[in-house]
Amino acid sequence: MWLSMMYPRLELLRELLAEDGSIWVSIDDNEAHYLKVVLDEVFGRRNFILDISWQKRDGAPNDRTIASVHEHVLVWGKAARQGKESKKTVAEQGFNLMPRSEKANAQYRIFEEPDGPDINGAFRKIDTTANGKGGRHVDSLVYPIRNPYTGEDVWPRKGTCWRHKKDEMQRLQDEGRLYWGVKGTAKTPMRKLYLSEAKQGMTTPSIWAGLALNQHASREIELLFGEKAAFETPKPEHLIQRVLHIATNPGDLVLDSFLGSGTTAAVAHKMGRRWIGIEMGEHAVTHCQPRLAQVVAGEQGGISKAVGWQGGGGFRFYRLGATAFDADGHIHADIDFATLASYVWFLETGAPRPTTAAKSPLLGVHAGTAYYLLYNGILGDRRPQGGNVLTGPVLAGLPPHDGPRIVYGESTRLGPQRLTAEGITFKQIPYDVRSR
Ligand SMILES: C[S@@+](CC[C@H](N)C(=O)[O-])C[C@H]1O[C@@H](n2cnc3c(N)ncnc32)[C@H](O)[C@@H]1O
Repeated sequence: MWLSMMYPRLELLRELLAEDGSIWVSIDDNEAHYLKVVLDEVFGRRNFILDISWQKRDGAPNDRTIASVHEHVLVWGKAARQGKESKKTVAEQGFNLMPRSEKANAQYRIFEEPDGPDINGAFRKIDTTANGKGGRHVDSLVYPIRNPYTGEDVWPRKGTCWRHKKDEMQRLQDEGRLYWGVKGTAKTPMRKLYLSEAKQGMTTPSIWAGLALNQHASREIELLFGEKAAFETPKPEHLIQRVLHIATNPGDLVLDSFLGSGTTAAVAHKMGRRWIGIEMGEHAVTHCQPRLAQVVAGEQGGISKAVGWQGGGGFRFYRLGATAFDADGHIHADIDFATLASYVWFLETGAPRPTTAAKSPLLGVHAGTAYYLLYNGILGDRRPQGGNVLTGPVLAGLPPHDGPRIVYGESTRLGPQRLTAEGITFKQIPYDVRSR
């Protein structure tokens, strides 16, 4: 049931996704594996990137013998992997590294050497020898290298070989990239890896433990709304922050089609991303809208302090109107005037029609052009086709406009010459009203 509800929505999401975009789905053990198969079908198995285990509970519930404490975050890219040499999808190539952690940097240190510390700064030491197991011992990699401090020729220890070819080892030596110990008397040198040359970020592993738990999210929700357990599975802001850090850049567009408490939109907003949230429950009004208004006003929970959030920006809140088209793309027979008017206006201008707009066949004027809609007896004539046909008298009764006019109606009795003379472009319902 649930999967068949999801399928067409996932297909739509795929259509909406940018070519270099990615989709991130958080899901628990009950549905994760079924959903994986469906998403593989929609996005293509070759575009599957990762199944992240997000630790959502600190410990297992103690009324069980075994219990899950994590949730899955499944990730797909849209565009296919490129070429054999690269195993990455387009989305993955565009992902951001995580900032280097202090723990990672702590592996690099300043070491004493006979002629003082290296001017290139902190480094990490790695082995220059291979132990000969697993077929890695190669005779051509057994040669002497001169210790510059003692002048001795140094060979790899018995049963081992160097990791590098002779000219590469010589280059490391010439560039001062071999470490011979504090006194310069090491039996074998170590290779220096400088912090200044280390990758400017870290690869994100697939286990996300100690990041933020469900209970943190519940606390965030409680602080925002003053009520406990309003949502079953709210996500902590720090979890969404990591996702958006990896997958997006400032200004990118983030869509959450199941907005829930509005966390994705709140975090996207604080991180300078543009966002669209869709929610069908009443909490769109009772929770999402006020929460995002708080964010705009500078709310200080969640990731606010971490990103220096001070408030700003804004958003629009829309309610979906009645469905304009049936599954075959035909206009619904019982669609009312206001709904079709909003639709036509948006189709023509790309802008929303104010809900306060007067009920008039003149929908409005945009960039000097007036838009009219003759539909559903708007002119007061309730006969089946009454008022929906552009005739001379109907035209005479329309609110005037000095400039080009676009009139939507079921048909017109005015010939092409008259229409041209009146500056009218006639568009026929339903043919000129398209679902796309
Ligand atoms: C579990 S919440 C997800 C919340 C949020 N994305 C998160 O991960 O924290 C799922 C939400 O999707 C909403 N929902 C379910 N079906 C929907 C649909 N067809 N269109 C819009 N929203 C829907 C539900 O009302 C619910 O609030």
